[in-house]
Amino acid sequence: MQTACRNCGSRKERAEFCNLGYQPLANSYLSRDQLEEPEAFYPLVPTICPDCALIQLPNLAAREDIFEDYAYFSSQSDGWVKHVHDYANKMVGRLGLNENSRILEVASNDGAMLREFRALGVPAVGIEPAKNIARIAQLDGLATIDSFMGVDFAQELLSSGYQGAHLIAANNVMAHVPDLDDFLTGIRMLLAPSGVFTVEFPDAENLVRDNQFDTIYHEHFSYFTKHSAFDALARRGLGVVDSEDIDIHGGSIRLYARPDVRLDLPGEHVQGPAFGQPTAEQRAFYDKPAEYRRELWDKLNRWKREGKKIVGYGAPAKGNTMLNYCGIDAGILDYVVDSTPEKIGKFLPGSRIPIVNPAALALDPDPPDVIVILAWNWQSEISKKLKSHKDRGAIILSRLEEL
Ligand code: TMP
Ligand code: ZN
Repeated sequence: MQTACRNCGSRKERAEFCNLGYQPLANSYLSRDQLEEPEAFYPLVPTICPDCALIQLPNLAAREDIFEDYAYFSSQSDGWVKHVHDYANKMVGRLGLNENSRILEVASNDGAMLREFRALGVPAVGIEPAKNIARIAQLDGLATIDSFMGVDFAQELLSSGYQGAHLIAANNVMAHVPDLDDFLTGIRMLLAPSGVFTVEFPDAENLVRDNQFDTIYHEHFSYFTKHSAFDALARRGLGVVDSEDIDIHGGSIRLYARPDVRLDLPGEHVQGPAFGQPTAEQRAFYDKPAEYRRELWDKLNRWKREGKKIVGYGAPAKGNTMLNYCGIDAGILDYVVDSTPEKIGKFLPGSRIPIVNPAALALDPDPPDVIVILAWNWQSEISKKLKSHKDRGAIILSRLEEL
């Protein structure tokens, strides 16, 4: 039997949103020793709720297993550092924040945003469950509590005398939360009565429109649209007062919500018919991944038959969903390059393609004829690095497009 909907608790049957088969956990990069061992595969079959339209996967792994030792460092991404720099400046201006303001960031990672607030003279406290990453921020003098956000945490902080936050930020974390109700209720409890909650998430409408099925993997439990996020917040007493489209991660949304604004219905910032129900486009998504697979498979096999050498650029989690769903392994991509020290020397889960340092591509005595950008959300940054390859005639493929 299906579990209840993570957002609205509905027990109605949820249709399959798509079916990506059996896949390993997308962030379980393999060491050379692990290549001789079996690998765990789990169904990757998101469903969509008929009552609130939340696209979701079941809670597969305990949050402690996935997030207590995490290998993603936000300060390593130039694009992300610029994003949080702009955010901190905007919030200080918009909300009139100063040295007396109380700011919390949920999932503060290695402190990229906390650092920007510090530079503006505004104190911000991070909450980060991955101890190895929280530690990096703490060593830099950035106040960071290693904990998960939720009702227990909120109660603890309030009973220690915490006065309520003027701003709580949560970026790219809501998708990872198994217990949405506990998470959002904890946030509402910690807001001052006129405090503001900002939440950013990749827009699942882009997923549907642009066939970004590779952004689906087991660590992402929920896929929000403006509508379903609005619904999730409103149910926990957080009224959405503004929204912005932001150009990061293939198209994201930032919502602003307040605990003193009650909105049970979509307002000026969230409009559209059939609020709360799956749209026709969402229902028709089911066949899209297979269409992509056919087209990519045709291209890569044609190039292979012509004797071309193909490699990949970037080893993000989304690349693993794409490669494993499309059945692309080391017989097609000789290697992928990635600059993350923790990934270099390992192998992609499932496809078992080796991950090498980007320098290995520059020094390859037999340079590739085709380079597939797997981290397509950083396409402009990466294609600049591939200019010399393009100039010598290599094909650069980003999703199904030859650049
Ligand atoms: P992300 O989309 O989750 O940030 O993952 C991007 C991956 O791509 C990450 O493993 C780092 C890698 N990458 C590079 O190796 N070189 C680059 O220039 C960029 C932008 C990303
Ligand atoms: Zn629901």
